[in-house]
Amino acid sequence: MSDEPSPHGVLTTANARVHEEIEDALLSFLEGITALDDAHATAAWDRFLAAFERHARFEEAEIFPRYEDLGPRPRGQGLELFEADHVSLNKVIRAAVSAIAMIREATTDKRRVMITQLGALLRVRNILEHHTLREERFLYPALEASLPHSAQATLATALTGARPSDRSSE
Ligand SMILES: [Fe+2]
Ligand SMILES: [Fe+2]
Repeated sequence: MSDEPSPHGVLTTANARVHEEIEDALLSFLEGITALDDAHATAAWDRFLAAFERHARFEEAEIFPRYEDLGPRPRGQGLELFEADHVSLNKVIRAAVSAIAMIREATTDKRRVMITQLGALLRVRNILEHHTLREERFLYPALEASLPHSAQATLATALTGARPSDRSSE
């Protein structure tokens, strides 16, 4: 396939849309938790976690193997870096869950506990931003440069709908 690489192809766009939803839920969670609004924070965190886990699982099952199929990647763009990002995200999410529990359980000085735990919560956002950029710059444009248009369209639909696509149909 001789398609020209594009930073704004159908896959990059689909991934960006999903990341926007994930980041929006995370921002809403941060608004809720910093306002000490447990109900708002819990609902937004649940929305964030569900969207993140669905997307990460989809990428690990459907996107990463296709990226691996492209063969050796330039320095700084290897599959292992994307996989390591997902591991890091899971790790900081687990730390954030502990931080949220501490804030929720605080009966006195709730605001102070929230402030002391804020770093752990913001770390999720920082690592996610870094990962989003890495995917937008390297992973999805590389797939767009090598996959046929029809496969890209199917994959983009599956990405936004998070339905497993049928690799055998390519
Ligand atoms: Fe992604
Ligand atoms: Fe990812």
